[in-house]
Amino acid sequence: NQDCYILAVETSCDETSAAVVKNGTEVLSNLIASQIETHKAFGGVVPEVASRKHVENITLMLEEAIRQANIEPEELSAIAVTEGPGLVGALLVGIMAAKSLAFALDKPLIGTHHIAGHIYANRLVQPIEYPCVALVVSGGHTELVLMEQEGSFKLIGQTRDDAVGEAYDKVARALGFPYPGGPHVDKLALEAEQSEELPRAWLEPDSYDFSFSGLKSAVLNAVNQHKMRGEEGYQPAIARGFQESVIEVLVEKAIRAIRSTGAKQLLLCGGVAANRGLRASLSERCKSEQISLIIPPFKYCTDNAAMIGAAAYLKWKESKFSDLELKADPSLSL
Ligand code: KG4
Ligand code: ZN
Repeated sequence: NQDCYILAVETSCDETSAAVVKNGTEVLSNLIASQIETHKAFGGVVPEVASRKHVENITLMLEEAIRQANIEPEELSAIAVTEGPGLVGALLVGIMAAKSLAFALDKPLIGTHHIAGHIYANRLVQPIEYPCVALVVSGGHTELVLMEQEGSFKLIGQTRDDAVGEAYDKVARALGFPYPGGPHVDKLALEAEQSEELPRAWLEPDSYDFSFSGLKSAVLNAVNQHKMRGEEGYQPAIARGFQESVIEVLVEKAIRAIRSTGAKQLLLCGGVAANRGLRASLSERCKSEQISLIIPPFKYCTDNAAMIGAAAYLKWKESKFSDLELKADPSLSL
């Protein structure tokens, strides 16, 4: 009946993050060093640059996470780290750091799945009721996952082309915003007075899959048309039209997944879960249909180590530890 303190590390993409999570739910510290300013100049994440930045930041992040949590390293119960999916060089930096600490402190090591982390970010808000469906929306993933019980993940739908965050970033770029563009499109869409009509990709009537590349192309075409006609000020209407199309499909398919599986709860997670339009639409729809919904606060939506600590706790409870051979797996499946 001892308390569990997990030091968690996340370096799968462009945030170097370390956190200490107590008993899987209490975040004692959660430090995030964002590399956005570095990658902005390139219009997206450059893997080699990301790895180097992680190397620069990781030690300080770990020290700060432990210091802010106000515990001694010896008191830690385990060291958790994202093992995949993600950029292999970026993952390796976190894994090497976590392994070194685990070895030096003689603590168990827990390899953790990045998407399981996003999903279990919801446990930091309130207990999850099973069966549930998670709508995972990030820069690399767009998935509907059925969880019949804790630790069980069944992929029932996924994107066939672009991830939704990727589509946001590309559309943002076409509208003249820097990387990552999601938040800019979100803001512009909410301020827009008009909406430009754009297509929705429903795919087959019974499919839970998604597709955003057609919508993205439609946006690029619309932007070109406006430019050719020498028009100005068309950006807000396009942002709103794009956001409406994305949200309508995401919300509709998520609700249908809840209904057809008989799940008790819907979880929203991943970087795009920070989208204010999506949060509002999903909340409203779930309220009117009396579906229980959890949405993590903004800071636990985009990449962070606290969510990895939350996911790792479940493995810790069952003594599911990794050995020091743990490898980075850029395409690890759930
Ligand atoms: O989960 P995340 O931090 O990294 C991945 O694992 O991919 O997600 C990052 C993605 C980016 O594409 C970013 O543009 C998007 O989340 N994003 C948003 C918003 N905030 C972040 N997309 C739409 N609206 C937002 N408010
Ligand atoms: Zn992520």
